[in-house]
Amino acid sequence: KMTLLANYQVPRYLVDEALLHFDLDKAKTRVISTLKMRLNPASEAGDCVFDGDSLDLISVKLNGKSLADSEYKVDSKSLIIPNVPEQFELEIITEIHPDQNTALEGLYHSGRLLCTQCEAEGFRRITYYPDRPDVMTVFTVTIVADAKQWPVMLSNGNLEEQGQFNDGRHWVRWHDPHPKPSYLFALVAGDLYCQQDHFTTMSGREVTLRIYVDPENKHKCDHALVSLKQSMKWDEEVYGREYDLDVFMIVAVNDFNMGAMENKGLNIFNAACVLATPETATDDDFYTIQSIVAHEYFHNWSGNRVTCRDWFQLSLKEGFTVMRDQSFSADLNSAAVQRIDDVNGLRSMQFAEDAGPMAHPVRPNSYIEISNFYTVTIYEKGAEVVRMIKTLVGDKGFRKGTDLYFDRHDGQAVTTDDFVKAIEDANSIDLSQFKRWYEQAGTPELTVNTQYDPVQQRFSLTLRQSCPATPGQETKLDFHIPVAVGLLDSDGNNMPMQLAQEKTAYDGDTRVLSLTETEQTFEFIHVSEEPVASVLRGFSAPVKLKYDLTNTQLAFLMAHDTDSFNRWDAGQQLMINVLLQIVDDIQKQNTLALSPLLLSQLEAVLNDEQLDPALIAKMLTLPTENYLAAQMPVADVDAIHQAREFAKRQIAVSLKPLFNARYESLSKQKKYQFNAEDMAARSLKNLCLSYLAATADPLQMQRCLRQMKVTDNMTELLAGLRLMVDQAGSEREHALRAFYEQWKHDRQVVDKWLSVQAVSKLPDTLLRVKALMKHEAFNIKNPNNVRALIGQFCRNNPVHFHAKDGSGYRFLAEQILKLDKLNPQVAARMLGALNSWRRYDIERQELMKASLEEIAAQKDLSADVYEIVTKYLAAQ
Ligand code: ARG
Ligand code: ZN
Repeated sequence: KMTLLANYQVPRYLVDEALLHFDLDKAKTRVISTLKMRLNPASEAGDCVFDGDSLDLISVKLNGKSLADSEYKVDSKSLIIPNVPEQFELEIITEIHPDQNTALEGLYHSGRLLCTQCEAEGFRRITYYPDRPDVMTVFTVTIVADAKQWPVMLSNGNLEEQGQFNDGRHWVRWHDPHPKPSYLFALVAGDLYCQQDHFTTMSGREVTLRIYVDPENKHKCDHALVSLKQSMKWDEEVYGREYDLDVFMIVAVNDFNMGAMENKGLNIFNAACVLATPETATDDDFYTIQSIVAHEYFHNWSGNRVTCRDWFQLSLKEGFTVMRDQSFSADLNSAAVQRIDDVNGLRSMQFAEDAGPMAHPVRPNSYIEISNFYTVTIYEKGAEVVRMIKTLVGDKGFRKGTDLYFDRHDGQAVTTDDFVKAIEDANSIDLSQFKRWYEQAGTPELTVNTQYDPVQQRFSLTLRQSCPATPGQETKLDFHIPVAVGLLDSDGNNMPMQLAQEKTAYDGDTRVLSLTETEQTFEFIHVSEEPVASVLRGFSAPVKLKYDLTNTQLAFLMAHDTDSFNRWDAGQQLMINVLLQIVDDIQKQNTLALSPLLLSQLEAVLNDEQLDPALIAKMLTLPTENYLAAQMPVADVDAIHQAREFAKRQIAVSLKPLFNARYESLSKQKKYQFNAEDMAARSLKNLCLSYLAATADPLQMQRCLRQMKVTDNMTELLAGLRLMVDQAGSEREHALRAFYEQWKHDRQVVDKWLSVQAVSKLPDTLLRVKALMKHEAFNIKNPNNVRALIGQFCRNNPVHFHAKDGSGYRFLAEQILKLDKLNPQVAARMLGALNSWRRYDIERQELMKASLEEIAAQKDLSADVYEIVTKYLAAQ
């Protein structure tokens, strides 16, 4: 069943107050929901409809009077009560079974705790309710349970009262004064350790901060707590947003479908996104935890205080909040590295989604299962769209706009149009054409042509845009694209950028041009020599840049561009050109050689003592096989793998002394600290090690082993293990066994152990993955295990997943059918590995199609998997 944006109607009945009473038990929980309801003045009287899913309905009372079976209708998805008065009180009693809930939506059992996940439509698995974000109410929640088994019982808001019964049970009552939709409801119970801290807000409110974890993880909370305080401070300073309850809680849960959830005052996190110690978490983990803690905290304003009218507006809160967490991370760490990582992620994941069968606008028009729309388009492209708005109105204008937005819509459920309107009103500008970014799917292409007139000293830059058709959108209207440009002279200095129609010189190195038509030419005057244009600086718009620079020009930008992002990007483009040439040579069976130009550029970067080591590491990292595949009309998996391995080995062998020297100079033992400088050093050190390992010199394996032996942190330990796992032999097996023995008590580390094996280059990897599925370390009901093993194999091991015999595809199909019975959301995510199936050779397409058809043929598919498999099969 398809839901359409065009069919939106306001809710017929509103909820003025909700009292929830839980009698908690793993096997059978009883929920008594008492709702004060009234007719929405903006609607007309009619049936009162409640959503419900997998509920046992016990009783319904209207204004204190039990309803007979004939006075309501109940089916698998809803409860309908006809003939209700204009104002009434309803009591609904349901029973649910948390220990049988493997979908991890609603109330479920995980390890030794009970917890909830309600976004998007999980609350209807707890009780019958108008489960839509535009129904907001004040919740009061009473929880009763056995005091021994469930000593800690949490819900949203402030704790009002608690007490004991003399039968061994106890109770608590939580009250959340802020009206909220049901998707922000949360409940947690269990035997949890609590680490406490506090924060004083800018207006002097004292807030208690608590992180709840399983007792064995009590030493792993510090980093998340520090991150939380950093987030609270940053949101006050940068957006003027203050926290609004007496307590802010985070709970770590082992079984969780996504990263984390912003429930009001009670964020629930995938344990892997909270817990960290230097010994068990890598720099990337520390970094991600800091950003996810920030993301969920920032939702308190962008999501909770101002929420979404309907789920088509999901990017209103997600795109904006991702943009906020990205700029938080940029402010606290290296802005250049943050931008490179964000764009890398966008290009490799979102561009592929936008070019495939699931392509959808940032504000979609329809969906079958909303869970399938928690996508890189809604999140990451949505963030780019908000970032472009900020570029267009400037930092100050953007702050004026968000102030107005929060002020105007506090306590409301609104749309992306309302967001844009607030920015427009605060800045007196017109963003009507810009709004096409919300409405049209597909990645625009931006073609650049330049011309220089030495006599007139004029440089003209012609920008042209187009956007490919996407499912359901044949033709596209022109976008409003902010294009940040700089001009470089032959010494690599920025040149003046005065446009022909301007009287005075432009002040600044980078200027943002607005492309609003299909084609526009920008004429720069007083340009004393032919410049190299640095276009789309900082990746000012999420487009594919078509700018035919020669490899020499790319090398020049790679060496000189003052914009760090474009400097890195020029290097990437140069690498892509070189690698695709090698692919072509492989296909033609020519002899292979690595471009001396690229080599000398890399050498210069590696020798640069001024450059941030983190940037050096980024600039020396070859594009992934997946990204290279996306650059070819027909992806040749094997040739790409071979080309990339060849290039890596050539670079390693040619620059070995430099890698050696850098590695040694970065190896001075230093106690682990999470800060930008040390992280940068470790990333370059590990990059050098990976090149040294690529020389295939057995001595380098000893080096990996030595690094693993002497290090005090997981970042270096895992880097060593990862390299060892690509080399067959007894040392490999020994290293894997030793690692497991040392860490088998720690789930997060065990997930890393599964992942490194899943992405191994060795030929028997699929067999190993299958064997690991039977290992004690693996449980198919745990989403982190599934992502670590099956997900990593299917998404990040292209050469084995796309094995010519179809074994990878058959393996995936088998797992999806198994997973769909347990956890449809996770099953649907795994199916994403086949998103680009039309981009491979005919033989592989046939094999992938067969696997898709096998899945589609299954009866009782979940809506999640059904929607994706049918859209994939419809792909041209
Ligand atoms: N709102 C959460 C976030 O901060 C994600 C929730 C995802 N839930 C789901 N059912 N897909 O991004
Ligand atoms: Zn979010």
